[in-house]
Amino acid sequence: GSCLESVKIAIDTGYRHIDGAFVYYNEHEVGQAIREKIAEGKIKREDIFYCGKLWNTCHPPELVRPTLERTLKILQLDYVDLYIIELPMAFKPGDAIYPRDENGKIIYHKTDLCATWEAMEACKDAGLAKSIGVSNFNRRQLEMILNKPGLKHKPVSNQVECHPYFTQPKLLEFCRQHDIVIVGYSPLGTSRDETWVNVSSPPLLKDPVLNAIGKKYNKTAAQIALRFNIQRGVVVIPKSFNPQRIRENFQIFDFSLTEKEMEEIAALNKNVRYVELLM
Ligand code: A2P
Repeated sequence: GSCLESVKIAIDTGYRHIDGAFVYYNEHEVGQAIREKIAEGKIKREDIFYCGKLWNTCHPPELVRPTLERTLKILQLDYVDLYIIELPMAFKPGDAIYPRDENGKIIYHKTDLCATWEAMEACKDAGLAKSIGVSNFNRRQLEMILNKPGLKHKPVSNQVECHPYFTQPKLLEFCRQHDIVIVGYSPLGTSRDETWVNVSSPPLLKDPVLNAIGKKYNKTAAQIALRFNIQRGVVVIPKSFNPQRIRENFQIFDFSLTEKEMEEIAALNKNVRYVELLM
């Protein structure tokens, strides 16, 4: 229920881009929030930009469209605005999200990312996804798609971890050259959940530089971290279940950072990920 409430507050606040996935197990709540706001007359469907994701167990080309159709059924929507391959690795297809062998090791699955991509293209052609993209792809993996013989639609975006401690300068430049938008996840340095976060890297929002710059503008370190990315053309998808912080993270369009401040923040890059995706 907290997702339903948060999405409704977000839409009321002005957010229109909603980043979701089947594996977040809350697409039914996101869909309900969107439908309720449409019914209230607050928004129209075309105002919303919903991103869904193809999970690792669904890479075989024949599974791609049925998987997207399952997401649309759960959302109760006719199309997603963006559908992306969540990770460039495949797991054994089946009901288990993390299929494991008797020793607890993930069971991988050999697939051809280019064939998966062709199935993504077919989803776009069928109108089930307005745009298609990828996530967690490095340059080599992007090039594999971009250089695919007979490529029909190139990825419009690549969603990767991106924030002042992990600024992705090389990937950002490559994507700029190829007109691929970088969508930065964990833009606030994510949570401190040791089960999936590398907590040996210090908490981003405690950073003295971000806090000092924030003081100057009467903004928080979180707002400075978000502003830094949008000001250099990186889309941000902050996550919060807290109404006050949902609103705070939207108050970033009434100031700009100077060139010197942008450089100071870029210099914070440690080239260390919080989300190591060890699987
Ligand atoms: P909460 O949901 O309690 O607000 P990221 O977007 O980088 O993944 O970070 C999400 C984490 O940051 C969540 O733990 C969220 O907690 C917290 N968070 C979100 N917005 C803010 C903010 N403005 N200030 C501090 N923490 C925040």
